[in-house]
Amino acid sequence: MSALPHDASASPSYAALFADRYDDWFAASTTDSTVGFLAALAKEGPPGPLLELGSGTGRVVLPLAALGLTVEGLDASPEMTAQLHAKPGGSTVRVTLGDFSAPPGPADAGRYALVYAAGGTFAELDTQEAQRRCLASAARRLRPGGRFVLDAHLPEALATLGSGTQPVDTPGGGFVFRTRTLHPARQQYTSDYAVLDDGRMRHVRVSFRYFSPGELDLLAELAGLRLVRRTGGWSGRPLTDSSTHHVSVYQLPA
Ligand SMILES: C[S@@+](CC[C@H](N)C(=O)[O-])C[C@H]1O[C@@H](n2cnc3c(N)ncnc32)[C@H](O)[C@@H]1O
Repeated sequence: MSALPHDASASPSYAALFADRYDDWFAASTTDSTVGFLAALAKEGPPGPLLELGSGTGRVVLPLAALGLTVEGLDASPEMTAQLHAKPGGSTVRVTLGDFSAPPGPADAGRYALVYAAGGTFAELDTQEAQRRCLASAARRLRPGGRFVLDAHLPEALATLGSGTQPVDTPGGGFVFRTRTLHPARQQYTSDYAVLDDGRMRHVRVSFRYFSPGELDLLAELAGLRLVRRTGGWSGRPLTDSSTHHVSVYQLPA
């Protein structure tokens, strides 16, 4: 682990409370396609290390490292990072503790060929200003020709399919229900999770800011990044009217 002092204020409450259960309850089920998509992009170049913003418990970082790629993490949560480091292959992965919407230190500026945020992590920045700063920070971390990739909901799909209370398809078979509430007046939504943990019902709330692809493109443009690819998910399927998510790839001009 590197680069303390660390500002823990960016760490979400679920990370501190549930890091040891995160993989059982919350980890996204798209890991293979995410890893495949990113590994193929890394192969296209430019050469250089990869960085995951919000590396969490290592769901994506560790399989990428196992493929022989040099991949690092940046996360605000020491608890999530401890889980990553405890896994096979995790102890050698460099993870910096910090806020990924803050500017990089001099050693990390221009260092990476590929910076990415997966699992809806970018939208955890719940203001436009924080998202704008994150894109500027990602751009400053990239080498010329480097790419920044993120996944996000399409807001229309979020509104029509994603609100209300639904059981969560948990990787560990746990009892988790999620209630999503949209707050269109502030372009945010909250997810309230009710989790049965050892016979005890626990609650955690996560806040997100949703955005249209067009708004994201403008924020990226302000950071000097231009859109080079947009798909309907990590599988690489085309974006269509029935897509629920998009994966967007931006490039810093060479
Ligand atoms: C939903 S988890 C996803 C982890 C991983 N990307 C995955 O897909 O499995 C989001 C991670 O981002 C981290 N995080 C959220 N906001 C952050 C911020 N502003 N700066 C750094 N890390 C942040 C959390 O601590 C958590 O580990």
